[in-house]
Amino acid sequence: MKTNKVENIIGSVDKLPTLPIIYTKLTNLLQSPNATAKMISDVISEDQSIAVRVLNLVNSAFYSLPQKIGNLKHAIVILGLNQIRNLVLVTSTIKMFREIKSDSSFNMQKFWEHSIGCAVAARVLAETAYLKSPDDVFTGGLLHDIGKLVHAIYLKEDFAAVIDDVRESGLPVIEVEKRIFGCDHTYTGRELAIKWNLSEGTVDMIRHHHLSDNSAELTKEISAVHIGNTLCIALGLGSGGEKKVPVAQMKAWEILDIEMNNLETIIERIDRLFNESVVILES
Ligand SMILES: [Fe+2]
Ligand SMILES: [Fe+2]
Repeated sequence: MKTNKVENIIGSVDKLPTLPIIYTKLTNLLQSPNATAKMISDVISEDQSIAVRVLNLVNSAFYSLPQKIGNLKHAIVILGLNQIRNLVLVTSTIKMFREIKSDSSFNMQKFWEHSIGCAVAARVLAETAYLKSPDDVFTGGLLHDIGKLVHAIYLKEDFAAVIDDVRESGLPVIEVEKRIFGCDHTYTGRELAIKWNLSEGTVDMIRHHHLSDNSAELTKEISAVHIGNTLCIALGLGSGGEKKVPVAQMKAWEILDIEMNNLETIIERIDRLFNESVVILES
């Protein structure tokens, strides 16, 4: 383990901006049985740029709602607080990382397309497997590789070397990261998710999406992100730097319990939803 690089990474996680205060307030409201749509909309309205993004997204083809939603209160009633809170998390994370100047050779646009591809694929798998909250799985998929952004921004040259090495050797990114940094992006991503107080489920999806730790409990949500990552790479949706399509582990398919003859329908839905979802990047 190359301790100095690992410590650098953790140091950079500490330097990273925190999530907007409204995310914490929404999390608190989610725990309160007395929260009303008005209270929630008042909190979101404290940050007008996020309020506008959320409304744009609600009105995008991604949700295909039958009519235009004109105000936040209406959006909250239709989508529910948990989904609105996820939207705030997703839009503010993208906004925050776009504001950090990285001048890194890592292609950020392609990275976010890969993240959206994985989020969409994981969500479709979660819906097909009748999971409780496909929306939470979408968020886990969107943030699954967030550790790579920390590497790209704070360990720029080393991460560029990782990506070059992957391009030449065809090895998985996590293997080269472990060799060069002493840890991979699932570790760094977990540190960031903990710093942001994200739910345990989200932390676990980020930490275990490559199923590289055999001792960890494999949940349906982790399995959906694991397979979602493979499918979006296979379908060429964006790029997170991998040269080869990783193999989705059989145990993840077994846990999700999805019939393989559904695969064609699943892929068609992922393709369609991906095209509708890239609007998140423009919001
Ligand atoms: Fe990854
Ligand atoms: Fe990925």
